Amino acid sequence: MTKKWIALLATAAAALLFSATTFAATEGALQQAGNDLSDQASLQRGAQAYMNYCSGCHSLKYLRYSRMASDLGLTEQQVMDNLNFTGAKFGEQIHVAMTKEQGEKWFGKMPPDLSLIARVRQSDWVYTYLKSFYLDESRPLGWNNKLFPNASMPNPLWELQGLQHAEFGEPDAAGERHPERLVVTSPGRVTPQEYDQTVRDITNFLEYAGEPAALKRQSLGVWVILFLALLSFLAYLLKNEYWTDVH
Ligand code: HEC
Repeated sequence: MTKKWIALLATAAAALLFSATTFAATEGALQQAGNDLSDQASLQRGAQAYMNYCSGCHSLKYLRYSRMASDLGLTEQQVMDNLNFTGAKFGEQIHVAMTKEQGEKWFGKMPPDLSLIARVRQSDWVYTYLKSFYLDESRPLGWNNKLFPNASMPNPLWELQGLQHAEFGEPDAAGERHPERLVVTSPGRVTPQEYDQTVRDITNFLEYAGEPAALKRQSLGVWVILFLALLSFLAYLLKNEYWTDVH
């Protein structure tokens, strides 16, 4: 009976391992964001970049300026002077000035709210997406994206990244050629390493925005572990105390 159970457990473990590896294989095209929610400086830079380069088109309607300030260690003045471009009040959510009609007219659709994007798509996807834009004259705005083909978003960070072109592979069965490799043909304002860092910071900020409570939970977790360690130690001392009487 026990042998049967062990065999069953081993099979289950193997199946889990197998599904994990096949999942990893299908996600092979994604680059690792490597972002860190406990890095407050990164979150602050990410908020700054987001407000400058993304908030003109995308709202974060579940996040309030005031909440962002207290979570990211910023003062009301810093947020209102540097990170609020719509004249919203400190206690308001991060809405976008663009109307739905404008969005549809300019991009064919309203740019989506990004509050939950890092949870829906995952951080590695967001990171890779922001690095996958390339010039494509056949698209209305002149931009395409290797990860999200025919996305209607132009590269908001082209000045930093520089202009990226695609090198195409052989035609597939349907006679279509897909981008195989992306190369920056005219450099941007920052080095590729600095660009990666900016994209990592933005991704970090969007992961935070998807679940602001995660920051508190992480720092709380440390205290919980310390508390449990202390409790175990006390229990151990208590046990010794009892057993000296028994012996
Ligand atoms: C000029 C307007 C504009 C700017 C600026 C802009 N975006 Fe977009 N974005 C769009 C549009 C339009 C779409 C919809 C693309 C589609 O579905 O074809 C989009 C889609 C996205 C998506 C994919 C959403 C999905 O459907 O999964 C992400 C992620 C995203 N944007 C992130 C950003 C980030 C981060 C920035 C700032 C660095 C940014 N965007 C700046 C217009 C913009």
